[in-house]
Formats: sequence, structure tokens, C-alpha cells
Amino acid sequence: MKLINKKIISAIFIVFIITVIGILIYNNKTLNNKNFDASLRPKYHFTPKSNWLNDPNGLCYYNGTFHLYYQYNPFAPCWGCMHWGHATSKDMLNWKYEEIALKYDNEYDKDGCFSGSAIEKDGKLHIFYTGVKYHKIKYNEYNIPIQEDPNGFTPSQIHAVSEDGGYSFKKILPPSIMPIKDNQMRDPKVFKTKEGFYRMVLGDTEDYKNGSILFYKSNDLNEWTFEGKWTSDKFGLGWECPDFFDLNNDDVLIFSPMGAGTKEYPNIAMYLKGKMDFTNFNFNIESKGLLDESFEMYAPQTFNYYDEKKQRERRIMIGWIRMSKPFDSNNNFCGMMTMPRECFIENGIFKTYPIEEFNDKRKGRLKDLKNTKNLYDIEFKIKDNFNMTLFADISKKGLYLNYDKNNAILTIDRKDVKFDGMSGAQKIEIKIDLSSDIRIIADVSVLEIFINKGEKSCSFTVYPLGENIFTDNNKDINIYKIE
Ligand code: FRU
Repeated sequence: MKLINKKIISAIFIVFIITVIGILIYNNKTLNNKNFDASLRPKYHFTPKSNWLNDPNGLCYYNGTFHLYYQYNPFAPCWGCMHWGHATSKDMLNWKYEEIALKYDNEYDKDGCFSGSAIEKDGKLHIFYTGVKYHKIKYNEYNIPIQEDPNGFTPSQIHAVSEDGGYSFKKILPPSIMPIKDNQMRDPKVFKTKEGFYRMVLGDTEDYKNGSILFYKSNDLNEWTFEGKWTSDKFGLGWECPDFFDLNNDDVLIFSPMGAGTKEYPNIAMYLKGKMDFTNFNFNIESKGLLDESFEMYAPQTFNYYDEKKQRERRIMIGWIRMSKPFDSNNNFCGMMTMPRECFIENGIFKTYPIEEFNDKRKGRLKDLKNTKNLYDIEFKIKDNFNMTLFADISKKGLYLNYDKNNAILTIDRKDVKFDGMSGAQKIEIKIDLSSDIRIIADVSVLEIFINKGEKSCSFTVYPLGENIFTDNNKDINIYKIE
């Protein structure tokens, strides 16, 4: 009898223990597998209200407002039917959605309004964009008409003017630059030169063997004449979204060369710094570099404005963080913009770094590394080997960072937070010295990392597993909460 009692007691005890363990595991699971799907929309990285976004277009500060136009397909979360979406802001961090600014509606842009730029003249906002006509149309899985051959379109460079502060545009037809043969020239970036005339740069290809930049000039934004061309066989097969500017008396070319990257990630964003000789159109390159080490950002554009508060000119860059698909069915936006970054040249190197205004979003130190909302800003100097896991669940799965001081390699691996639409590299290794400065900005579902104040940078979209940060060395790390 006593033996049976003992057995019953032990059985009850075992069942009790199993139940307690079960409850603990269940609680942990539900605690840490929160419904992150609810909204993966970043707070400070601009996303379209819904559907597809690619290149930033027409960036400018006009009449006291920042304008961000962008390649936009309002009909489906895939590329095609390109419109210019529009958003405005007073601080470049909080954006207001505006009505679509540009739609295709004439024989020159009947299949889309591709990328371009904005410039103010005599108080009016002028834009230049590439209107396209497809040679042959096919329909994709969303029933969106796209060109059969990726390069099968006829481009025209079209000028349009706004008289209502940049909200709507009147197109001036025929186009400023009519199509030339079956040329793929596109993405006009217009700026005023020191000499006082206007210059336009266009991206082009030399028969899909090399990329090239075409230069046009104008005195009034109406009549354009061809000036010259610069081509090189060192940067891929065709160049998109060129941007050319003077920064501290250096010439900088930002462009997106197709086929200049790796086999897996052929299309990349780059800068070249040097001196352009406008007599024979030779570019003497002094330094060059990737604008995104993870190959996720593409087609960046810059603009220049005079900041009254800072009493100086500022050049700001915004790029497209590529996503080929939305995160999931709850999040119907596809693609986002980088943080607005200020451009500098330091020690001969072109750097881009988040605008200082973002520091005001820091609301003290993050004390709880478990409920971070995935909104934080980390700063530290590398002093030793380190490991860090972000967007992590409690089993410490997430996005991994590791520094190996012997080989001076920073590894970033997002194999456990990837999703189908991820467009850049899953894992990268960056060579950086011990004692480099690191800044990591986490914004709900995207991470941007800056090394040595923007000497190198990379961006990663992530599908978070949780909101935890794990780090094996947090005493010398500043982790700020972002609100
Ligand atoms: C770059 C690009 C541009 C083009 C636009 C079309 O991403 O291919 O060259 O104007 O996108 O959406």
C-alpha cells in the first residue's frame, strides 16, 4: 500500500513538473514570438503607403519644405507602371504622403515616368525625368505590363514645371531630349554650374559593354545641347542614376553601375571622386568606393541646400533599400529609403552619415535590452573581439555581428532573419581596423551600419525574430533608445 502511495505521489510530482516546464516554455514562446507581423513598417526609413517603391527622384528643399519623389507603382507590390510618388517633410525624418506627382499620359511616357531630378529656377520647381515607351509588352504575375526585354524601351528626357509648390507638374512637350536611336539613356540629373549655366548628366551604355555618362548643357533649362561623354570599361555594362556634384572643390560622381558588382549581386551603388576635365571629358579618379557594402541599397540621389540654422550648404543623399517582395501579407509595402545622410569628404574619402537631426530622436540609454521595439541607435569603438545579436528571440537567434581582431574582420550575417524579398547579401565580411567607430541604427525591420563616421556603410532589411539585443560586451557600448 505504502509503495503504491509513493508511486502515486511520484507520478503526481512528475506530472506537476512537466506541466510547470510546459507552461514556462509556452510562456516564453508566446512572449518571444510576438506578432511582429503586425507592422514591420520602419519609423524613419521612408516606405510607400502600399505597393512598390524604387529610386528616390527629384530630391530638393523648396519653399521651406523637403520633397521626396520616388519611383512608384501604386497598383501592385512589384516594379512596373512607374509613377512619381511624392512625400514632403520639414525635417527629412517624418514624411507626409502626398498625391502622386507624375503619371504617364502621352506618347513619350506612355509606359512610365522613370527616374529624374528637380531644380528650382525663378521660384518655380522644374523636374526632368525619363519618359518611356516599351517596344514589346508582356504581363507579369500581377498582370502589370512590363517590357519584354529589360532594355527594350525608347527613352525621352522630359521637362515639367510646377506652379503649385511641387504638388503637380505641367509637362513640356515635345521632350527636351528626343530619343536617339535605340539608346537606353536615362535618369537626368540637372544642376547649376559655378559658371552659371545648367548641366544635365544621363546614364547610358555603350552597347551593353561599358557604362557611360552623357553631359548636356543649357542656359535656360529649355534648349539642351550635347557636351560630351565619359565612358570607362572598369565599372560594368550600363550606368543608371548618375549624380555629379562638387563637394569641397572635388568632383564626385555617384552612380549605379549594372554588372559592376559580384556575380550574385551585379548591380551596385558607387562613388568616384576626382576631377572631371570638361574639355576632353576625362575623369581623373582619385578615390572610389561602394556606397553600400551589403549591395542592398541602390540608385541613391543627392541634393544640396543652404541650411539656415547651420548657416552652411549641406549635401544630402538618400538611396533605395531594395526589396523584391513585401515582408509578408500584413505588410503590403515593398521597398524603403535609407536614412537621409549628409555627404562629406574626409582624408580624400567620400563619406555619407545619417543627418545630425536624427540624434534628437535619441531618448536616453536603452536600459532593457529585451523590449527594445527594435528602435535604437548603438555607438561604440571596437576595442576587442565582440559578438552581438540583434532582432533576436530568447534563444539568441537573430542578426549576428562578430568582430575578429586577429583578422580585422567584421562579419554581419542575417541568415536567421532573412525573408524572400531580401535583395542584398545575406552575409558580408568587412575589413576594418581595431578601434574603428561603429554606429548601428535599428529601425523596426531595417538596419544601417556606419563605420568610421560613414567611411563604409551597409544596410539590411530583416524579418525580426524578436526584440532582444544580446551582446558579450556592453560596458563600453552606448545603446540609445529611439522614439
Ligand atoms: C534604377 C532604374 C532607373 C530607371 C528606374 C525605373 O533602379 O532602373 O534607371 O529610371 O529604375 O524605375
